[in-house]
This record gives sequence, C-alpha cells and structure tokens, in this order.
Amino acid sequence: MSVIANTLSTRTSLAILTMPDPEQGFRGNRANFIDLIQTGKKLGAFVYVLTTDDLRAGDKRVYGYVYNVENGIWTRQLLPMPHVIYNRLPTRTDEQLPEVQNVIKDCLKKKNVRLFNPYFFNKWALFEWLNSDKETQRFIPATRRLSSPQELASFMQSHPMVYLKPIRGKAGKGIMRLETNTPGRKYWCKLIIQNHKKSIVTNHLNFAKLWTRIKQEITDEDYIIQQGILLAESEGRPFDLRVLVQKSGTGKWFITGIGARVAGVKSITTHVPRGGHIDNPHNALISSFGETRTPIILRKVNNAALTIARRIEKASGYKLGEMSLDLGVDRNGRIWFFEANSRPMKFDEPDIRETSLARIIEYTQFLSRPRPARTGKKSG
Ligand SMILES: Nc1ncnc2c1ncn2[C@@H]1O[C@H](COP(=O)(O)OP(=O)(O)O)[C@@H](O)[C@H]1O
Ligand SMILES: [Mg+2]
Repeated sequence: MSVIANTLSTRTSLAILTMPDPEQGFRGNRANFIDLIQTGKKLGAFVYVLTTDDLRAGDKRVYGYVYNVENGIWTRQLLPMPHVIYNRLPTRTDEQLPEVQNVIKDCLKKKNVRLFNPYFFNKWALFEWLNSDKETQRFIPATRRLSSPQELASFMQSHPMVYLKPIRGKAGKGIMRLETNTPGRKYWCKLIIQNHKKSIVTNHLNFAKLWTRIKQEITDEDYIIQQGILLAESEGRPFDLRVLVQKSGTGKWFITGIGARVAGVKSITTHVPRGGHIDNPHNALISSFGETRTPIILRKVNNAALTIARRIEKASGYKLGEMSLDLGVDRNGRIWFFEANSRPMKFDEPDIRETSLARIIEYTQFLSRPRPARTGKKSG
C-alpha cells in the first residue's frame, strides 16, 4: 500500500463520483473538483476523484485520481474505499446508462460506503412530492403533464400566462411561455420560445396554429405545463432566487446562501448564460418591497426553502446532502417554487461558494462518524 493509502484509513475520505474518459481519465469540471479537494485538505478530509468504471461498491479498495496540490499533477492510485461518495455525474444521459445505474444501485445497497444525492430530480416528480404535502402545496404553481393538446387548451382557459417546460430540463433549455388575453392585441396568443440569449416570439390566431408551432419545439420530450407567475422586478427586470440548501456537520439542513438572478432583457428565464445577471437578494427585493418588507420576505424564503428541502428528501426516499432551489417571489410578495436541482451548479458569490465547499466536507465528516446506537428505534 502506498504512503497515502496508509494514512488514509484513519482519515475521513470523500470520493467525487464522475464518468470515465478515455483520454483525460475522468470527466467533469476539474477546477471545481480541485476547489473541493483543497477545502478537504484544510478541514482534514482526503478527497479524490472516482469514476463509475472503477467503483465496485463491495470492494475494500478502488482506483481513484489523486490531485497533488503542490505540483498540480493528477495520479491514478489504488486507494481504500471512500467513506462517502459525492455524486457529480455530469448529465442525465450518463446517469441513465445501464452500467451506471448498476453502480448507483450497488452503492445504495452496500453499508461500507455512503452515497448521497443518488439521482437527478425531474420536474414532474418534484411537483407530485410537493403537491401531496400540506406544508409545501402552497408554494407550487398549478402544474399538469402535457399529455395532449386538449390538456393545454383547457389549462389556458384558466391561466392567462403559461410556462411549458421539459420534465428533464436544465438551464432554460426548451422553455416556452404563452400569453393570452392581453388587452389591445390583435392575436389570440403570443408564444415566446427561449433560445440562447434571445427569444423567438410568434403570434397565433387560434389554438390549432399555436399547437402546430409548439409541436415543432417539443418533438418527443416530456413536458409539464405550469401557471406562469408574475415575478417581482428589480429595476424593471423580473428576477428569481436561487437558494442553496445543504446539510452541515450536524446532519441537519441549513441555508448556505441565496442569490438573486435577474432576467436578461429578452429572456423569459433568469439564467446567467441567457443574459441574466447576479444580484444580492436584498438589493433585488428592496426595489419592489422596500426596507420593511424585504427582511420579512427573506425570512419567509429561508423557511420555505428548508421546508421544501426536507419534504423533497423524505419523498425521494434517498439520502440527500444538498440541493439548489429556484424560487420566485411574485408582485404581492408570495413565494413560489419552480424547481430543485440535485446537482447544484457552482454559485459565483464568493462567500456562498466558500461555505458550500466547507459544508460538503462537514457533512462527509458527519456521515463517516461512528454513530452511537440509536435508542427507541428498531435497528435495520
Ligand atoms: N411558472 C413559472 N412562472 C414564471 N417564471 C417561471 C416559471 N417557471 C419557470 N420560470 C422561470 O424560468 C426559469 C427556469 O425554470 P426552471 O423550472 O428552473 O427550468 P430549468 O430547469 O431550465 O432551469 C426560472 O428560474 C424562472 O425564472
Ligand atoms: Mg432552474
């Protein structure tokens, strides 16, 4: 066994799980992996990268990629099985591969290693989980599966603004917005399709014409239709909030940080790659709600996010360690849930970024600590 491996067995170890790559060894964002490796080093945990090809959950040892902070070199080494696995499989397509499915299932069964956030979420499951609980129901816009054009036509009768979103969507891809009943407009319905930074706008005289255009966009993907929320604005632009919720060293959920994402001028979403920009949530809220209401709304956002995170974890049936939530605040100050991501993207706010890395290490330390036998509960 190497020197590293020997010192390891006593120290908490965390493996970042990703896909193998024939040339690079492994895929994923190396700069982000290095940030976590360095945070681990500071906080006393050994962090390395592990691919789905190398992981066999029952084994005592695995091949992993170790990063040397001093010389910036990655080496492949035989290492002890990690205590905890942090799932950073890059895409849903990767996750769907049968061999990857098997690796995840095996990890969930085995007791020697703890994997959290095993799967991506999908928007329909999230809706069902949150809508079936009294405490979280009130945050959910009316939502249906787009099962037929009739479903959409009837939904549009009760909602003047409707969002269409792919169930497995991400980063605004495939999102559309419908607007009807706008006074003074010649056409019956305006359709806005999110497209890179700009949007494509078309007007339609009737449902049949609208549906023909929508069908060109959705091809064979599964979609949801959702009541559109009139978002509060900051300097004339709608914004929403991205909340990072993580477990900490006590194994409990905490709000790591909240960022505001302000929509680009020509965008129906708030994603930064689509022309949106970052703001501090306090700044964003204050222009709509003023000094007195803003802290109250922020407190409500915190509470809503914690309630939602707990419900999602419970309903998913899996151990989760983090998630990001996209929440909207409407013009009356009411809070709405748009979606949750089980592989949160990096937050660019430096303080949120730093805390988020530390929380992953602290949660890892929590998971790998020997637990005293629980009393009052059956074991198993
Ligand atoms: N029902 C809605 N009403 C108003 N805005 C919405 C609605 N759904 C989504 N949006 C806007 O679009 C963005 C992207 O939607 P989201 O469900 O998060 O999809 P994605 O997975 O593509 O990020 C949200 O952050 C929000 O700004
Ligand atoms: Mg989103």
